[in-house]
Amino acid sequence: MTPLGPELLAHESDTVDDDGAFARAMLAGLAGRLRRLPCKFFYDEAGSALFDRICELPEYYPTRTELAILAAHAPAMADRIGPAAEIVEFGAGSGKKIRLLLAALERPVAYLPIDISGPHLLAASADLAKLYPNLCIEPIVADYTRPFGLPPMKPAARRRAGFFPGSTIGNFAPAEATRFLRQARGLLVGGGLLIGVDLVKDPAILHAAYNDAAGVTAAFNRNVLVRANAELGADFRPERFAHYAHYNPAAQRIEMHLVSLEKQNVSLLGRCFEFAEGEAIHTEDSYKHTKLGFATLAATAGFRADAVWSDSNGHFAVFWLEAA
Ligand code: AVI
Repeated sequence: MTPLGPELLAHESDTVDDDGAFARAMLAGLAGRLRRLPCKFFYDEAGSALFDRICELPEYYPTRTELAILAAHAPAMADRIGPAAEIVEFGAGSGKKIRLLLAALERPVAYLPIDISGPHLLAASADLAKLYPNLCIEPIVADYTRPFGLPPMKPAARRRAGFFPGSTIGNFAPAEATRFLRQARGLLVGGGLLIGVDLVKDPAILHAAYNDAAGVTAAFNRNVLVRANAELGADFRPERFAHYAHYNPAAQRIEMHLVSLEKQNVSLLGRCFEFAEGEAIHTEDSYKHTKLGFATLAATAGFRADAVWSDSNGHFAVFWLEAA
């Protein structure tokens, strides 16, 4: 546990095993014929800062669209959640979204944000504690893509409600998304889940969102190589890898790759990896769903989609899922 203040403590889940996880993922991801890296390694300090910039880009519609949906419908969402709830947030964002929700909730009892990055989580929690001095805030340092536990529900809480904004569920393949939702259902002990989902749309809009004119998404993608150089002593030349993002309509996902611009060798932790010109590292998938498709996916994990709020363009949706 990391003390933050007299009342704010971070619980450290014993499933957080950062030591060596990035190195293992890099070695395993580069060893195969099809090279791929888990996108969770994008988010070191520089990567998180780049992602914050992505959220402000004119082409990247999900953040502002979801914020507008939350701002417009927070009272209806709060009605679904009910009074005296304990809110569990998967991932600690900038705080803007949870504030919209907290402002609409009736007497929320506790807020448990879960994030893999301790410093980021504690900073966000401390900021929120200033605004809500009477709310019990219990940050949990954990990798929520893996099994972990939560402390028991506060006696004053009537029920738990999960909050998973940002369409981060889209970064999970359907089987992983089902696994995540099943785990969330267990952690919420009968409570519901408010979740942001990016919807299937005109591929041109998607293409622009992941190929912004300012090149921030390209820098975000290449940052994983910069990180490997800094943390693992690799000798990638990030500028010799092109950012390549395209929409795969059959799979309903944006795929991000880093494509080698020439034949080159990279050394990493005593191993040498050869890249042919045009050979790619697949770095991220971002799945887009139809409303019906997502409700069906949620049903496989034991949730019923009881309400959905969307923008007038139908670009993004926020679902309220109840344990079925
Ligand atoms: C965090 N996640 C939902 C973002 C997405 O849109 O898939 C990550 C991202 N990748 C490129 N741009 C943003």
